[in-house]
Amino acid sequence: MSRVYNFSAGPAVLPEEVLKEVAEEMMDYQGTGMSVMEMSHRSADFQKIIDEAEQDLRDLMKIPDNYKVLFLQGGASQQFAAIPMNLMKNKVADYIVTGQWAKKAYQEAQKYGKANKIASSEDKTFSYIPDCSDLPISPDADYVYICENNTIYGTKFKELPNTKGKTLVADVSSCFLSEPVDVSKYGIIYGGVQKNIGPAGMVISIIREDLITDDVLEGTPTMLKFKTQADAGSLYNTPNCYCIYVCGKVFKWLKKMGGLEEMKRRNEEKAKILYDYLDQSKLFKGTVVAKDRSLMNVPFVTGDKDMDAKFVKEAKEAGLVNLKGHRTVGGMRASIYNAMPKEGVEALVAFMKKFEEENA
Ligand SMILES: Cc1ncc(COP(=O)(O)O)c(C=O)c1O
Repeated sequence: MSRVYNFSAGPAVLPEEVLKEVAEEMMDYQGTGMSVMEMSHRSADFQKIIDEAEQDLRDLMKIPDNYKVLFLQGGASQQFAAIPMNLMKNKVADYIVTGQWAKKAYQEAQKYGKANKIASSEDKTFSYIPDCSDLPISPDADYVYICENNTIYGTKFKELPNTKGKTLVADVSSCFLSEPVDVSKYGIIYGGVQKNIGPAGMVISIIREDLITDDVLEGTPTMLKFKTQADAGSLYNTPNCYCIYVCGKVFKWLKKMGGLEEMKRRNEEKAKILYDYLDQSKLFKGTVVAKDRSLMNVPFVTGDKDMDAKFVKEAKEAGLVNLKGHRTVGGMRASIYNAMPKEGVEALVAFMKKFEEENA
C-alpha cells in the first residue's frame, strides 16, 4: 500500500486511523453481519450510529441545547437556497461577499428576496477580509451571511462581523472543526463535510431552534424545510447513512486527539511552517493579506504559469498531490485540513525548497 500526501481542497484527506477502522468493519459492522452500507436507516444499529455522531459533535463544539444538528443531503450548495427559503420572513438579507462561494450564495438568495451585498473583497481578487465592524446592516434584514473560510482564496474571518443584532449565518465548509467556535454567536453554522470531516455528499447544519418554523417561503420543498428535517431527526427520508457513520468515526478521532483546542494548536503549527517558508521564499509567494490567512487553505504562486505547472507536475511525481489552484484562479493551493499530518506539510516545504534551488 502506498499513500500520498493529498492536498486536495475537497473531497480531501481523512485520518488513516479512521479509514482503517471502516475498512475493518466493511464486511461485518460490530457483529451485525453486514456493512453499514447495507443497513436500514430505521434499524436500532443505525439509530445508535447517528445518535452517537450527533452527541460527539455536540461535545466537540459545545453546541448549546437550543440548537438542532441536522445531517442533510444536497451539499453546501443546496443550503444556498434552503437558508433564504427558511429565514427570509421580511424577504431581506445582507451578504458579505468574500469569495466565489459567498457570491454563489448571494446570487441564489436573490431568487427569493432582496439580497444586499453589504461588503465585498472582489476589488482585490478576494485576497482579504473587509472591515466588518460597522457595516450598513439593513434594518429589516432577516440575517447576515458570511462564508467564514474561503476555500478558493485562502482567507478566513478572524473576527465575526458586527451584525448589529441580526442573525448570523455562516458557511464553515472548509474550516469545520478546525478550531473551537462559540456556537451561540450564530443562528446557523453549516458546512459540507467533504473537506474537514468525511466523505462527500452531506452537509451538517447547526441551527438555533427559533429559526426552525413552519413559516417558510411559499413553495419551499418539503425536503428543504428545516422543520421537516428537525422533526424527523434527519431521518425524514433515507439519509447518507454511510457518510454519517464515517463522520461519526472522525468525531471520535477528534475527541481522542484532544478536541478542537488541540486541533487549533496543530493547525496553527502546520500553517506556520508553510507561511514562514512562503514569507522568505524568492520563488513562491502567498496571495493573501497576512492577517486574513486561512489555516486550512494556503494559495501561492510563482508569478509564472509555466513554472506553476512544472511545480505541480514535479510535486505530484514526489507524492505531493492535488496542489493545483482552483480552476478559476490558477497557481497552487495546499489544503492542510485536520487530517493532514505535520509531516505532510514538512515534506511539502522541503520539496518547495529543493524546487526553488533547482529553478533559481
Ligand atoms: C466554502 C464552501 N462552500 C460551499 C461549497 C460547495 O459545497 P458542495 O459541493 O457540498 O455543494 C464549497 C466547496 O466545494 C466550499 O468550499
